[in-house]
Amino acid sequence: MAIETLVEWMKNSNSTVVLTGAGMSTESGIPDFRSQSGWWQNIDPRSVASVESLQHHYELFREFYQMRIEALTNIEPHIGHQILADWEKRGLVALIATQNVDQLHHKAGSEEVAELHGNIVTIRCTSCVKPHTIEHFLNNSVCTYCTGKLRPNVVLFGESLPQEAWNLSFNEIQNADLVIVIGTSLEVYPVNQLPRMARGKLVYINLDVSGSTRQFDLVLEGSAGEVLTKIDQKLALF
Ligand code: OAD
Repeated sequence: MAIETLVEWMKNSNSTVVLTGAGMSTESGIPDFRSQSGWWQNIDPRSVASVESLQHHYELFREFYQMRIEALTNIEPHIGHQILADWEKRGLVALIATQNVDQLHHKAGSEEVAELHGNIVTIRCTSCVKPHTIEHFLNNSVCTYCTGKLRPNVVLFGESLPQEAWNLSFNEIQNADLVIVIGTSLEVYPVNQLPRMARGKLVYINLDVSGSTRQFDLVLEGSAGEVLTKIDQKLALF
């Protein structure tokens, strides 16, 4: 019944925005952050993913992102990513605003993607900002122009979000008839403020819906791949 309701809303929506978090990628084999098998179970994020760690504990910082980058080897988008990409092509999704840094939405073929937390597949120099290759970073090279430290284009704790991605997401969510939030604990500021900017219908798809979901008009419990497949099958019947 809930899925039929969502399909109805999707059909009637002039603009639908999808907001994704790490739970969108777990079925591709990438751990999330706060589940039992998540990155932050055994690692304090401030010690590896912060401005402080970049400036004062560069080796720890670099090793952590090396591990994260290497964990993306041979990782492919799953059926859920593909369905979202297909919905964009069919005019059913206007924008994916994502906290994910793995670029799996792009890899699945989505074009309108706002990377709210940047990504870990492109690299820049911390000093002169010039781009470098992943190999430079993985080989522990310094910047070839100014010998500065290299880093992924990811947002660290203590940094602002990319202005363009934020503004786009904020405006599109505010103007959307429907916002579908998938696979995020909504624990991290400021992205966790975005759903409350929505003036249209608000839907939550997550494995764990035990937290407060009062702000949502509809809650669908289950894995992203599974739930999106069910929605897609129902859409086909309309
Ligand atoms: P979290 O790890 O906080 O939350 C992931 C959510 O997805 C949890 O509620 C899981 O229950 C759910 N989940 C896991 N697998 C799922 C699946 N297959 N289908 C549906 N739901 C699933 O990750 P985020 O909310 O994305 O920031 O975390 C936000 C930010 O915290 C990240 O972008 C990262 C981290 O620190 C930075 O690195 C800047």
